[in-house]
Amino acid sequence: MAETAPSHNNKSFWNELCGSHLFSFLGLKEINKDSLAVFDKAYFKMYPYLKNYVRNEFLNAKDVLEIGLGFGSLSQHIMGSCKTYIGLDYSENPVKIVNDRAEMSGLSATAKALNGDARDLPFENEKFDTVVSIGCLHHTGDTRKTIDELYRVLKPGGHAIIMLYNKNSFRKKIVNPYKYFVAKRRKKYDNYNEYTRASYDANAKGEAAPIVDLYSKKEIKELFARFSKIKIKTENFDNYLFVWFGKEIYWPREYFLKNLAKIMGLDLYIIATK
Ligand SMILES: C[S@@+](CC[C@H](N)C(=O)[O-])C[C@H]1O[C@@H](n2cnc3c(N)ncnc32)[C@H](O)[C@@H]1O
Repeated sequence: MAETAPSHNNKSFWNELCGSHLFSFLGLKEINKDSLAVFDKAYFKMYPYLKNYVRNEFLNAKDVLEIGLGFGSLSQHIMGSCKTYIGLDYSENPVKIVNDRAEMSGLSATAKALNGDARDLPFENEKFDTVVSIGCLHHTGDTRKTIDELYRVLKPGGHAIIMLYNKNSFRKKIVNPYKYFVAKRRKKYDNYNEYTRASYDANAKGEAAPIVDLYSKKEIKELFARFSKIKIKTENFDNYLFVWFGKEIYWPREYFLKNLAKIMGLDLYIIATK
């Protein structure tokens, strides 16, 4: 399902690094080795399952491409574990931070980030053992093309580890319609499409990401049909605040990660073998 703003500038939107909210929330100001270490610890605490997908068997002694870099926490993990690392992002700031990370960690000889578009990868066929892309392809406007491209650059037997938003999540199916139509969040956004996009990714001003596409497991199986094997799992959940007889009850997302998130979680994690 396409949720795209009528006119958009994806490149400039993502120049505000995704993770900027978390960086400020942690009280961090300047980007340096120490602040990034604090940020990365918080990032992996928030996504405790992530390294179970991007696991060592797909990294150790492998040539790895990562697409969609953001603040680069996962990039840092991958570049420290693989043989060679290339990060690719459409926007300049994610590329800069990942190159700075490589330099700060003394890994520039084997790790670098480049500016480029997931829809038209600037690499020869069958170059990589592993392609990782977490929360990016659904922002490109042509997820199918990006999957064809990553299939092309993967070696036979190589793996793609991808996260795409789940169309059948608790948020999308139940919470968003309630919040928009009943709890009147529509006051802030022009239409339901814009509200939906903002509920997934918004910048510091609260503006919605220009392109956010969501997928069902069935659609993902179809998109990855050329791969010989595919596994899909559901992860991630929101925090919830309920009001019960005037009393506020807060349910942190950690309560849901091992139960409801496995059924109606926000994200679909895909491991596909070429
Ligand atoms: C939501 S962030 C995810 C970043 C990181 N993987 C994470 O999980 O924190 C999406 C990233 O995808 C990048 N992106 C968006 N469209 C892209 C495209 N067509 N090609 C490459 N990167 C793109 C954005 O610049 C941004 O850094």
